[in-house]
Amino acid sequence: MVSDSYSNVTSEIIELLSGIVGASYVLVDADTLERFSHDETENLRFFPEVVVRPRTVDEISQILKLCNERLIPVTPRGAGTGLSGGALACKGGVLLSTERMNSILSIDERNLQVTTEPGVITEVLMDEVKKKGLFYPPDPSSRGSCFIGGNIAENSGGPKAVKYGVVKDYVLNLEVVLPNGEVLWTGANVLKNSTGYNLTQLFVGSEGTLGIVTKIVLRLIPLPRYDLLMLVPFRNLEQAGEAVSEIFRAGFVPSGLELMEINALNIVSKMVDSTAVPVTEDTEAHLIIEVDGNDQEVLMKDMEAIGELLAKYDIGELYFADDAQQKAELWKLRRRVAEAVKLVGYTIEEDTVVPRAELPALIRGVKELGRKFEFNVVCYGHAGDGNLHIRIHKEGTPNSYGDAAMNECLRALFALVHSLGGTISGEHGIGLIQKGFMDVVFNESGLHLMRSIKRAFDPNNILNPGKIVDLK
Ligand code: LAC
Ligand code: ZN
Repeated sequence: MVSDSYSNVTSEIIELLSGIVGASYVLVDADTLERFSHDETENLRFFPEVVVRPRTVDEISQILKLCNERLIPVTPRGAGTGLSGGALACKGGVLLSTERMNSILSIDERNLQVTTEPGVITEVLMDEVKKKGLFYPPDPSSRGSCFIGGNIAENSGGPKAVKYGVVKDYVLNLEVVLPNGEVLWTGANVLKNSTGYNLTQLFVGSEGTLGIVTKIVLRLIPLPRYDLLMLVPFRNLEQAGEAVSEIFRAGFVPSGLELMEINALNIVSKMVDSTAVPVTEDTEAHLIIEVDGNDQEVLMKDMEAIGELLAKYDIGELYFADDAQQKAELWKLRRRVAEAVKLVGYTIEEDTVVPRAELPALIRGVKELGRKFEFNVVCYGHAGDGNLHIRIHKEGTPNSYGDAAMNECLRALFALVHSLGGTISGEHGIGLIQKGFMDVVFNESGLHLMRSIKRAFDPNNILNPGKIVDLK
């Protein structure tokens, strides 16, 4: 029997937690609880009873042991930039922040690996390895603020994933603390590993429901020397979707292939006060195309060939980013879309993914659903991966969680995605807000397996309960 009734955080528990991490890292003041009550997911708020900020694996082990014995829920949290509610303390209890575990432990230049703690900001890690000519590619839009530990929890992607893969493709080994306080390494610091069940990959994307990751070993690759960036305006959104798969079929592998619907660009340009992208009246969407490598001439030729390939579509004038500053400006516009559209009311974010060539069908279907269910929608995202972020704005409906009418729209959207061979999250995770739709993509046998995995790791259901699947 799995418990869903938990104990409260009493003053005795506060004292015990203070004994483990030190009183100044056990916080119950209203401001702190408010700050940790939300992440970037819609407008949701769930207050923890206490926020604990441990520094070491041993402290985390003791916290989990205590909470497991006393049946107190523990919600692990990185930087709180998540979009599926994974870091929300929806059952109260302890919010365990990894922000003090922020050291990069070693960069192994002989083996092209880095060992890091989970609370390091992703961009800080990228910059540190870059100084040594090395590259850690998975770069979510929030890379300037998100933590590498959160990226592991969600199996994050980002624009580079289309060529270089997502977080799971770089994780070699993890040190984790299990809900009962035991500590283990999941694998080895090697590039190949057929040693039993793949525990490392089970933890990647498990959203802090199976254990808390305390050390991470990532593989690195040599940093490509050059990149080129081009922006292609399309008069028709669906055609932009069609062009995406054609680029790959023609033999190109861009290092970024992003789509931005015109609304998204207009909103974000206004927010950051940028005129970097000239917009003509008849543009419906842009593709952002990046190629990278070590030979600049080859890159120029590839970009020209891609331009020629796209000439048969109804496109406007191609725009090349000439220098590092222009490239940075374009990427800034793209990276800040999620934040910008949320500010103007597009609070509900979906993270659909379909086989790449089904992108036009997905775009068409999404627009039809918008008309049927009377919501406004703006599409953007990692088109090269078939990963379309769908931002929904429906008057009077700021949240999808618990809203019956919005759930009906979303069920129809996910049924469409599933019918196209896709699934409901490409990189944001299931967390709290998508778990009600897991039955769209898994049958009962699949859901039963997921619940069994959760029970095997966390029989008392204390670690990030209420996420991914509910236990019955
Ligand atoms: C992005 C985030 C929302 O692609 O995944 O901007
Ligand atoms: Zn994204």
